Amino acid sequence: MIRAPRGTFDVLPDDAARRRTLEAHAERILGAAGYGQIETPTFEATELFARGVGEATDIVRKEMYTFDDGGGRSLTLRPEGTAPVCRAYIEHGMHKLPQPVKLWYLSSFFRAEAPQRGRYRQFWQVGAEAIGSAAPETDAELIVLLADLLGAVGAKGVRLRLSSLGTPETRAEYREELKLYLHARESRLSEDVRERIDQNPLRAFDATDPGTRDVMREAPLLLDRLDPQDAAHFAQVRELLDTGGVGYEIDPSLVRGLDYYTRTVFEFESDVLGAQSGVGGGGRYDGLMEELDGPATPACGFAAGVERMLLAAGEPPAPPDHVDLFIALAKPNGAGTGFELSRAARRAGLSAQLELAGRSLKGQLKHADRIGARYVAIVGDDGHVSLKDMESGQQRELDAADVVQAVRKP
Ligand code: HAM
Repeated sequence: MIRAPRGTFDVLPDDAARRRTLEAHAERILGAAGYGQIETPTFEATELFARGVGEATDIVRKEMYTFDDGGGRSLTLRPEGTAPVCRAYIEHGMHKLPQPVKLWYLSSFFRAEAPQRGRYRQFWQVGAEAIGSAAPETDAELIVLLADLLGAVGAKGVRLRLSSLGTPETRAEYREELKLYLHARESRLSEDVRERIDQNPLRAFDATDPGTRDVMREAPLLLDRLDPQDAAHFAQVRELLDTGGVGYEIDPSLVRGLDYYTRTVFEFESDVLGAQSGVGGGGRYDGLMEELDGPATPACGFAAGVERMLLAAGEPPAPPDHVDLFIALAKPNGAGTGFELSRAARRAGLSAQLELAGRSLKGQLKHADRIGARYVAIVGDDGHVSLKDMESGQQRELDAADVVQAVRKP
């Protein structure tokens, strides 16, 4: 048997219904805040992610599906949506539009990670990017919008972690300080962290081994090194969240797995998710547009995993599909009448299903009951129909031409 590749899954009809509901919430919540939907290509030039997400990140180093397009150009299945949206902003000259340009997406992304519950190799994200605003209100608004989305979806046990990464300059100075701190304690660090002290010392905060964790408890914190403007920006974001009654915890060790962040970073986690607890996150990326050769443009955004939001919401049974009319065939030669009746019913806005499996009449009625049909039209061979009300059990004889009207106005 040929199976779906490891870390991928099929979206079956019940799942599809839940996803549609989630998408409708995203469209309503983000649309009401002025976000327009964007869809970028599934693959992009590899360089976009190497430069945008950062050469030193796990995503670029180990998790990208990269291939040659046959003409010597390197392409990559998109591992995230922010760099592509920025590419589109530059390519379409969106800096000429009134700012900020607010865009949202619901798209699939690809990362070659070790699959487990909540972590897949193809997954979906709802994302939102506000490009062209440096205001702290933008950061706070995005956090509130994501909180609203998680609330609408019914995600349980949600907590918000918040921090600030400052400017690249502050971060560079802090990185040197942290490197010195880590080098002085190398023997107590895990091999993975030790090997990458110079490349990515911040990742040490993410380590799970006891030795590294012990060392990191005493480590210097970037949050204590912010310059006055960054500290003021962060204070304003917090104030807006406080005023709005949005609960959060300041987590100075919050490290996001992408290099483009500046100033505010945040992550929503859910207790019910287990190891993969991050349900959605984001932050400000004021330098990314220039990194991609665009005009200097401040920006902020988030993305939340569709599968993780649904996992965090639990698995309520999908509501049964609504079936107004099931068309049963008493004799095989009634098929033509039944076929036309199903089309007429659907044209009239009813949901109608025709018997397609060659069941006995008894079997057809049982099936109609199982799918929750409101009425069953039993088509005889003379164009006559017996219409059964499945709630009352009453049955009456009609002409096929009158069935639709009878179902619409019983
Ligand atoms: P991210 O934290 O890498 O951020 O991903 C956002 C969300 O996508 C995660 O919180 C998680 O719910 C989901 N996710 C990530 N990887 C997987 C996976 N392998 N399987 C299932 N779900 C996954 C970004 O991607 C940034 N582009 C967010 C952003 C937008 N920052 C600014 N604007």
